[in-house]
Order: sequence, then C-alpha cells, then structure tokens
Amino acid sequence: MGKKLNITEVVLRDANQSQIATRMPRSDFEDILETMDQAGYYSMEVWGGATFDSCLRYLDEDPWERLRFIRSKVKNTKLQMLLRGQNILGYRHYSDDTVRAFVRKSVENGIDIIRIFDALNDPQNMATAIDECLKAGGHAQGTICYTISPIHTFESYVELGKKLEEMGCNSICIKDMAGIMSPQVCYDLVSALKKNVSLPIYVHSHSTTGLGPLTLLKAAEAGADGIDTAISIFSGGTSHPATESLVYTLEEMGFDTGVDLKVCQKINDHFKPVQARFLKEGGLNPSVLTTKIEALNYQIPGGMLSNLIAQLTAAGKLDKLDEALIETPKVRADMGYPPLVTPMSQMVGTQAVTNVLTGERYKMISKEVKAYCRGEYGHSPAPISEELMKLALGDEKPIEGRYDDTIEPEIPAAKAYLGDLAESEEDVLSYVAFPQQAEAFLKERREKKALKVEYTIQEAE
Ligand code: CO
Repeated sequence: MGKKLNITEVVLRDANQSQIATRMPRSDFEDILETMDQAGYYSMEVWGGATFDSCLRYLDEDPWERLRFIRSKVKNTKLQMLLRGQNILGYRHYSDDTVRAFVRKSVENGIDIIRIFDALNDPQNMATAIDECLKAGGHAQGTICYTISPIHTFESYVELGKKLEEMGCNSICIKDMAGIMSPQVCYDLVSALKKNVSLPIYVHSHSTTGLGPLTLLKAAEAGADGIDTAISIFSGGTSHPATESLVYTLEEMGFDTGVDLKVCQKINDHFKPVQARFLKEGGLNPSVLTTKIEALNYQIPGGMLSNLIAQLTAAGKLDKLDEALIETPKVRADMGYPPLVTPMSQMVGTQAVTNVLTGERYKMISKEVKAYCRGEYGHSPAPISEELMKLALGDEKPIEGRYDDTIEPEIPAAKAYLGDLAESEEDVLSYVAFPQQAEAFLKERREKKALKVEYTIQEAE
C-alpha cells in the first residue's frame, strides 16, 4: 500500500457554487447520495459557503433539512462544511452567541468537519468557531487563505499554521480560492508547514488559471494529507481539478486514495444530465469552463473578475475595465493587503470600481469599507493606508480591542421577534444569518402547512 492521500469531493458545495452559482436543488442529487457514500472519499463537502443563503433565497429549501437529508443517506463518509469564521455564512461579523449556536447546530445536524476560515487570516476571527466546534465534538479544520502580496510570506503562513495548531485545530487547510498558487509554491508551502506543524495538511485549489491539477499533484508530492476535487463533469474552469483524473494519476504514482473509479463513473453519469440541463437553461455560463490566465496576471479570483465586468456593464462603462483592473490592487494595498475572498473580494472590487467611475479615489467610500477601517472585520494583514483611514473615518478613532465583544447577543431578540414562526433553534439561526430571506421562507412554509391542513380536512369529509 502506498501513502494514504485523502480525497474530498466538493461537487455539492464548491463546484456547485463555482460553476452554477449554488443553484443545484436537492432533487438533482438525492438519488446519488448513497452511491457517493460508497466511493471511498475521505469526506464530502456538502454545506456552508453560499449553500445556506442559496437554499433560502433561490431554492425554497430549508438548508438545515437539506443537511439532515444528506446525513440520512451518507452514513459512512464524513460530511464537511465551509464556515467564514465570525461571519458564519454571511458577510458581517455576528455575535459570539450566534457563532457558537450555529456551529453546535451544524454538528448536531450532521456535519463532521468544519473548515473555518477568515478573509483576513486573523486567528481571532476563527477562535470562537474553532473552540465551539471542538466542544461540540466536531473536527475543526483551521484555514490559511493563500494570497500573493509583499507581506504574505512563507514565514507568515507558517506562523499562522502554528497558531492554528495552538488553538486546538485537528487539521489545516491551505485554501487557494483564486487558483493562483503555483505548483512549486504549493510544494514549498506544504513542505514548510509539514516541517513546523504536526497536523494533517489539506490543499484546496481551483482550476481557474489552469494551475489547479498541477498544484494538487505537487501538494501530494510534498506530503499533503488530502486534496479537494470535483467529479469530472462539474470540474475545470472556475471549479476544481477532476476527481477521476487526480485519483488515476495519484494511484499510478503509488498513492492510496481509497477512491473507487468505477463508483466515480456512476456518480459522473448521474451528474451528466444535470450539467447538461444547467448549460441548456443558461444556469451554467460556458465562459466559466475555460482557463482564465487573467486571474494569474491580475491575481484576482475569477468570480471577482466577473463581478467587476458586471458592475461596469451595468454602469455602461465597460471601457473602464483596464482602469478598474489597475485600480483593484491599489485599493487592496491601501486596505492592508486583505486576501481576496468573501467578503473582502466584494469590498475591494466595489471600491475600485467606484474609484474609477467617480474619477476620484475614495470620493465615495462604501459603508463596509468604513466598517473595515473602524476594525469591525478584525485586524488587517498590514496597516491600512493613512490616506484611506483619514478619508473613511475623519476624526473618528478605530475600535480598540475585539469588535465582536461589543456585539449584543442576537439570538434572544430574534426569538422574541419570530415568535411561533420559528419552530426550532435552527429556524432562529436562519433568521439571524439572513433575516429577510429566512422570514420570507418561514412565512411561506407556514402558509403551505395551513394549506395542507385544509386539504387534509377536505379529504376526510
Ligand atoms: Co473554493
């Protein structure tokens, strides 16, 4: 037997999010879950990220019910989710009571592994979620968001890895959300972490720039313990390297992935018509399937690039794209080089577009960027430029200490507001995370139930 290499299948979460904007309804995968459970994956990433928001907003599905259903069909394979630290699954910092309850309920409803990241790589923003995950009996996977900047050095990543180990994490993930980590850098980074940290190391990348499969191969060579892949029909482009190709290659090289390619074929056959339907109905834009070297040149994630284009198109100023692409790294530098991942990618991108469209830098500053300068998102990786601080805050002083300590507990007020509209603690958490979407969803659910009762009475007559 060769060296064990764990495979995490991400088709239901990240591939779904990266290629079809997380629009896959449960009906598209419910019949294949039991087969997926037989494939030999170490884990399946099925929840978190944008899935929660999307269930409530677009799919008319209770995200918690979706998770429980998956758990009921997947009995052997570990289930995994992605959590944005103190932002849980939203775009702002939530109170500690919300973070703790959310993490505990995630584990209770079936999650084994929680991959916890923070857009700023600020350990303080991951601490509460890690602590609660461990208390709830979950596997806490601490995350290093990979980005390229003058201050993000190997040493800084190793420092963060050591910190995550100290905090009690069970494993570490190197998260290359933009697909810009080169194979050699990955090899060196995994080697450096292996030397300095005693935890299993997982590598997550995307195929956006074409580097993904090569990078994962070098991850395995450097001794990584696991990699993330997507079943082939939903792989490539903004999604991930293909499960089957990586398993084939790695097994040939003597690694033991434990994954059965015959089962993979059944899974792929199942998802082929699903992919074809999304393509036909426009839910899958073929442009996300191609290799985009721009993401490497500009070092911005593919999703962010399409947002920039969309914002400029909406303003009728697509001719300003080059200017916006030049402005983006400048804004990022002013903001202290945050990694470009949710919610920082949106904040940096929108501010860059605003700077270009108004023709004057920071003439208008979004309330999110102001909150960031105030310290409401934690510590910026490098200091924020004085010019931006001055323009954003005026004479106001940034927060000292931990912003999250100043957020009032959110759950009691939400419970009181919802009354009997909430039938469980999960409902209350859905509301705290996404008030508008959850309230609409819960009201509709109540109406549907009322209708059902009427029907039942009529039938009984
Ligand atoms: Co990803």
